[in-house]
Amino acid sequence: MQSREIRKKFLDFFKERGHIIVPSSPLVPENDPSVLFNTAGMQPLVPYLMGLQHPSGSKRIANVQKCVRTSDIDEVGDNTHLTFFEMLGNWSLGDYFKKDAIQWSFEFLTSKNSGLGLDPRRLYVTVFEGDENAPCDNDAHSVWKEVFENEGMDPQKRIFFMDAASNWWSPGDNGPCGPDSEMFYDVTGGLTEGLTKEEFIAADKNQHVVEIWNDVFMEYQKSDGKISGKLKNQNVDTGSGLERVTCVVQGKENVFDTDLFKPVINKISLLAQQGDERSKRIIADHIRASVFLIADGITPSNTEQGYVLRRLLRRAIRHADKIDIKQDSLVSLVPIIVEEYKEAYPNILEKQAFMEQEVLKEEMKFRKTLAVGIKEFEKINTPIISGHDAFILFSTYGFPFELTLELADEKGLKVNKDEFQIEMEKHQNLSRTSTSGKFKGGLANTNETTTMLHTATHIMLAGLRKYLGDSVHQAGSNITEERTRFDFTYEGKVERETLDRVEKYVNEAISKKCSVVTEIMEKETAMNAGVEGSFWEKYPDKVTVYTVRCSDGTVYSQELCGGPHVANTGDVKGTFKIIKEEASSAGVRRIKGVLE
Ligand code: ALA
Repeated sequence: MQSREIRKKFLDFFKERGHIIVPSSPLVPENDPSVLFNTAGMQPLVPYLMGLQHPSGSKRIANVQKCVRTSDIDEVGDNTHLTFFEMLGNWSLGDYFKKDAIQWSFEFLTSKNSGLGLDPRRLYVTVFEGDENAPCDNDAHSVWKEVFENEGMDPQKRIFFMDAASNWWSPGDNGPCGPDSEMFYDVTGGLTEGLTKEEFIAADKNQHVVEIWNDVFMEYQKSDGKISGKLKNQNVDTGSGLERVTCVVQGKENVFDTDLFKPVINKISLLAQQGDERSKRIIADHIRASVFLIADGITPSNTEQGYVLRRLLRRAIRHADKIDIKQDSLVSLVPIIVEEYKEAYPNILEKQAFMEQEVLKEEMKFRKTLAVGIKEFEKINTPIISGHDAFILFSTYGFPFELTLELADEKGLKVNKDEFQIEMEKHQNLSRTSTSGKFKGGLANTNETTTMLHTATHIMLAGLRKYLGDSVHQAGSNITEERTRFDFTYEGKVERETLDRVEKYVNEAISKKCSVVTEIMEKETAMNAGVEGSFWEKYPDKVTVYTVRCSDGTVYSQELCGGPHVANTGDVKGTFKIIKEEASSAGVRRIKGVLE
């Protein structure tokens, strides 16, 4: 079965079970500056897991979400770890819970008709053993017990209780979380008779069993890193890495042998003069992640997302050098990735030329700093290169640490790795602080009040356009749970009287309890229909549009957006007030608004 069939089968399976299918959000969360990338399918759904109604009106959602996780970058090259991956996910927002979630996961994985037809005898699962925050997950255990008994298998050799380090899932220090149940598949084909817990742990460590699916039962909430209570609803958040599932379905031992990677690995093998497998895999992974990052608007830089992209490209170039791939050859991998993914993600086809240009540009830049950096390196004349010097090579000359290690090795020098780590951590702490402190635009977080203000802000823009004219567009926004700060194009002061009319417009929409609906539209159609949006050129062919429409047919706002929004304006608590209007820059005004 090809990977594209797996995507489709997954979505069809959950559609048949009442789920609404939503498209992947971009890799960079549009309105959540607390994270650099979407690292899991649930991230764009946080407000709904926290209790807001989803704009689709549905309590069952499924999707295939693009994700980037760089925490595992050093692991890339083994059988399963990747920096970019696609996550298949189904969600219950206060609807079904453990029983359906587990039974459907099992059915999808093993059914020969509606699912993937995997061998149940190669399946192992873990459940949460309990701790001071939450009890042992006996409910999940009994559902699994029944599932395995129905298959004539011994549950004791299939289900293992694990601690919170393995079986508690949360996306960060704040937000929804809960115990999970993970499913593992035996990739060797030799572990069909069941395992003891110790054998299972060893098999996991040796990658003889691989995690392919995770059901999270989200009914708890974390605040500042501590479990702070229960959520309004019992939710389900599931995630299954497409690459890993494809790997086991296609009977491969590693993800790089699947149809998702084979074409690019083959091309790398053609280009390479010699064949270190690990380097080939790293190049394949990093260039694929880079393509998706560039397609979603990131370009190489020294900060935030751009810095991650730069590291990935430079690391790929280093490994290309290692296996003697000619200079400037990496760019020839871009069309191969585009070919593989253009159906599922049409925006990568649109951006192909731009991606090639960025990859080439970064290679040229890196090679220039590389030459200067090597000169700097030659100047070091101590037998042990200090962490500080290694860090300067890294930060000023763009040397990945492993390059310094290699060059040192060639010259018979040592490098103080611990010191380098300390410097790195200082740098990372700094960049983390700068990310969190540098909130410039969009939403500060995706909690309920911020989401309410976000919807109110959409209606306010429509009101401003109604009373000031169509030349008014958004020039920037910054929304926290206290207030919305909104910049828009307009020459001259806006009279208080007009602001009052805009306020009234917003409050009218709130009091009329209008639905907020989300639709996917062709960009062309949306433009022609008069949907409000700035930066149209940034968006792919298909765009997401949020419309505030009342039962009497009045449309209060229709705007391009990535969400999140309340499902109904009746969910906006309070009265909207514009508390300030002032100049922001030439031709741009700034409004501050609150809910009182
Ligand atoms: N959010 C869960 C995960 O990423 C499903 O594993």
